[in-house]
Amino acid sequence: MKFNAPRGTNDILPPDSLKWQYIEQKTHQLFSNYNYQEIRTPIFEYTELFQRGIGEVTDIVEKEMYTFTDKGDRSITLRPEGTASVMRSFMENKIYGQAQPTKFYYLGPMFRYERPQSGRFRQFHQLGVEALGSNDPALDAEIISLGLRLLQDFGLNDLTLHLNSVGCSECRPAYVEKLKNYLLAHRAELCENCQQRIERNPLRVLDCKNEACQEVIAEAPKITENLCSDCADHFSDVKKYLELVEIDYFVNPLLVRGLDYYTNTAFEIKDNALGAQDTVFGGGRYNGLAEEIGGRSLPGIGFALGIERLLLSLEAKDIELPIPAGVDLYITVIGEKAKRKAFKLLDQLRNNGFRTEIDYLGRSVGSQMKSADRMQAEFTIILGEDELNKDSATIRNMKTGTEIEIKLSNLLTEMKQLVDKEDL
Ligand code: HAM
Repeated sequence: MKFNAPRGTNDILPPDSLKWQYIEQKTHQLFSNYNYQEIRTPIFEYTELFQRGIGEVTDIVEKEMYTFTDKGDRSITLRPEGTASVMRSFMENKIYGQAQPTKFYYLGPMFRYERPQSGRFRQFHQLGVEALGSNDPALDAEIISLGLRLLQDFGLNDLTLHLNSVGCSECRPAYVEKLKNYLLAHRAELCENCQQRIERNPLRVLDCKNEACQEVIAEAPKITENLCSDCADHFSDVKKYLELVEIDYFVNPLLVRGLDYYTNTAFEIKDNALGAQDTVFGGGRYNGLAEEIGGRSLPGIGFALGIERLLLSLEAKDIELPIPAGVDLYITVIGEKAKRKAFKLLDQLRNNGFRTEIDYLGRSVGSQMKSADRMQAEFTIILGEDELNKDSATIRNMKTGTEIEIKLSNLLTEMKQLVDKEDL
């Protein structure tokens, strides 16, 4: 019997896992500079949270959730995203009692039953932020700039920010009605899927990639021309704040996002090099979500970035992350007596912060040297009978081939000087 990982999931193997660690470390660092704190919510929630939070008539809720009934007969869903859970936790833990806004971030796996392809998986990973408790347009700009800054820190600069406002509960219903009437008038030109969406959720039609639908959509009424004055002001302020920090944007009135909780600002950062799944991160404001999931009224804004897409984007631009390669030191031993000495030395070196390895397969000196090479060791410490008799070790610089002899009692101090400690 042969087992494979389930379709749409990936093993993250070394050395790739080092890239993940690097991304995670950078995220913790940068997000904390912006005063966001980490929140960890459960991987699964009661299904209703997502049904109500994300919206019944969305692809995620209609087709993509991993939902099952547990032994207690409760409907459980593996989280397809993080925002609804963060809002649930905020309400449940009465964090609204503390000074606002509350700024959270999270990292972790999400699950959607989608058709796997490049950049689209069934288990994927997001890093996201949510700022709750303020409707200040400057916060919208902060959130967008934080996401872009993170990408810049990884060397990604030439991405496009698509920006829109999807209005609020005051202005959107009238716009949706207008859109619906327009779409009904062009019903026959739309794909079957969109024909059904007209009644159920006409905004979703704006998202359709079908060519015939796109032609109809191009002439459709635009949300940006149908905003109430509060929403129009908010949108214009967000743009001003973005300009203040020199962030270019492209206003895309067709950007509606795949989740129903958005109000006002909606945005996506796209990388043209990525093909069909070109959105590296997306987000927006969700001032109605708290009420939707049964709490009080509370504004919120956030984004989530797909880590797999970030890695694809880096790959497309040949950007290498500065991950440590191999080990600092490899101890080559000759004979059993040397092995015992070496084992103790290994322990001391590791305790002093050196990435150190030794042979565990009883290999010949030549093979041990080859191993050291394969592990990209900076130095090899050779311990044999001769060295033991003199209480010393031979140190070989693996790049230059130069060898020196060092007294074992001085080894730690000498190695500290020899090894580039910066990446330790
Ligand atoms: P989303 O647009 O559904 O938004 O997902 C955010 C990002 O997650 C996408 O831009 C993409 O990079 C990544 N992603 C989504 N689905 C997949 C998949 N199947 N495979 C690989 N990567 C994927 C949200 O999830 C919202 N919760 C974002 C948000 C936070 N809005 C406000 N706060």
